[in-house]
Amino acid sequence: MAQLEQIAAPGSEWWRSAVIYQIYPRSFADASGDGIGDLPGITSRLDSLKELGVDAIWLSPFMTSPQRDAGYDVADYRDVDPLFGTLDDFDTMLNEAHRRGIRVIVDLVPNHSSAQHAWFQAALKAAPGSPERARYIFRDGKGENGELPPNNWESVFGGGMWERVTEADGTPGQWYLHIFDPTQPDFDWTNEEVREEFRSILRFWLDRGVDGFRVDVAHGMIKADGLPDYTPPADADSMGGGEANVPYWGQDGVHDIYRDWHRVLAEYDGDRALCGEAWMPTLKQTALWVRPDEMHQTFNFPYLMTEWDAEALRDVIRESLEEFGAVGAPSTWVLSNHDVVRHASRLALTEENPQGDGIGPLTPNKPDTAIGLARGRAATTVMLALPGSAYLYQGEELGLPEAMEIPDAFRQDPTWFRTNGERYGRDGCRVPIPWEADAPAFGFNESGASWLPQPADWTAYARDVEEKDETSTLALYKRLLAVRKEHGFGSGSLAWEDAGADAVAFRRGAVHVVANLGTEPLDLPAGARVLVASQPFDGDALPVDTAVWYTTD
Ligand code: NOJ
Repeated sequence: MAQLEQIAAPGSEWWRSAVIYQIYPRSFADASGDGIGDLPGITSRLDSLKELGVDAIWLSPFMTSPQRDAGYDVADYRDVDPLFGTLDDFDTMLNEAHRRGIRVIVDLVPNHSSAQHAWFQAALKAAPGSPERARYIFRDGKGENGELPPNNWESVFGGGMWERVTEADGTPGQWYLHIFDPTQPDFDWTNEEVREEFRSILRFWLDRGVDGFRVDVAHGMIKADGLPDYTPPADADSMGGGEANVPYWGQDGVHDIYRDWHRVLAEYDGDRALCGEAWMPTLKQTALWVRPDEMHQTFNFPYLMTEWDAEALRDVIRESLEEFGAVGAPSTWVLSNHDVVRHASRLALTEENPQGDGIGPLTPNKPDTAIGLARGRAATTVMLALPGSAYLYQGEELGLPEAMEIPDAFRQDPTWFRTNGERYGRDGCRVPIPWEADAPAFGFNESGASWLPQPADWTAYARDVEEKDETSTLALYKRLLAVRKEHGFGSGSLAWEDAGADAVAFRRGAVHVVANLGTEPLDLPAGARVLVASQPFDGDALPVDTAVWYTTD
């Protein structure tokens, strides 16, 4: 940890202001050449992240998994899947990141395991009512012969939330709960054995030196007593972002788990952090995850889901600062991740597309790439000026759009299969990223293999092309991160300014931040000296879909 202490002493609460870069390991860099990214690939590309200027990386799951949900189905929480390498490869990656002053957060998936997990396999073989079954949520079915599921809940990925098992004697048996795919059975978090197991898993990775955890489905682990029937409203998004009082989302009991984990992390030196993935309908509810004795960060999904509208953006920023401020926590800003349409496309959608539905060849009215990129760059320019922490998702620093033309035959997201192709799902934001325009698989590896096909026109987004272009999205991100650091934008407060109804405008110390979300250019004050602009422009008027940081001295 020696190198890290130089950038932030223990107790400095680095996570309050850090910029954290999400690596989706299967699509970042592939050293083995099998078409799926891996840990040695990540190690080989750490210099580029240092150059970008991020403080930490978060790795989506690389633990042992049959990969039915791209690793969010973990069969062994204490080992690396051979697809991604070995525990030694992990240690090397961690040390190399730390050597560069980059912290490392790993993904923890506590709501459910893989059906291949030893505990679930034992549960299948054991009898109803056994301690093995009690680690998961097994129930008898309804109906004369138990042939109906225990309740009417619908899985996030489509279809029912229950799967019936065949008992050891060959007869149709109990049902088990799975919020996601049937290959992802939910743990029963009322069982102390489950709690103890996860304390031990936390310690396993903390002992190896990780700086924290991103906690998957951090709002789902406790289900309402009695598992009452629930029908979501027709316009609900599948992760619960728009609904109140859902019996499997945001139950009070989840908070005890994080208070417990907070104490586990506090036993360790170096300011380890928990970041929750909790899709709650309001900011007030979201902020419950980061009360002082719980998690350190929780993704600001209401912000991510805000459409490109000045009033809506001003409101969500104002309310975020109020609600997170009220519990003494930073807001953790985020615009893209591996579950949502990339923001360089999403912000040009004409309707909301918050989670899961995706964009594919037959989607009507696909977003315009140029408008999307302009808005995406402007949105990031606003985000990185805000006080708090911010997460970036690999490839957004290149301005990557959603891959919208992936042929059906290549799709992998369980959402696509569980909805019989009704929802395209998330493959479009998960395509391996381009490093070199003229190399096989755009430099993702040396073999040219890629688990999802890369669009041919991604040549223009390749890192080596953007590195040579001072107007590129990569150049913009580097500049934003450098100026943010120089001015300490990650902490402190902001002062709102009035630049008209179609603008988002505020001041950070001597630096003014303005974004034009309207349809007409916006005059900047005479003498404005531009520090960073989301795209180049001439004259004193800020073009539409553009944001700028400027001073007036
Ligand atoms: C949220 C993860 O981000 C997503 O990718 C995954 O499918 C579900 N949780 C289930 O683990």
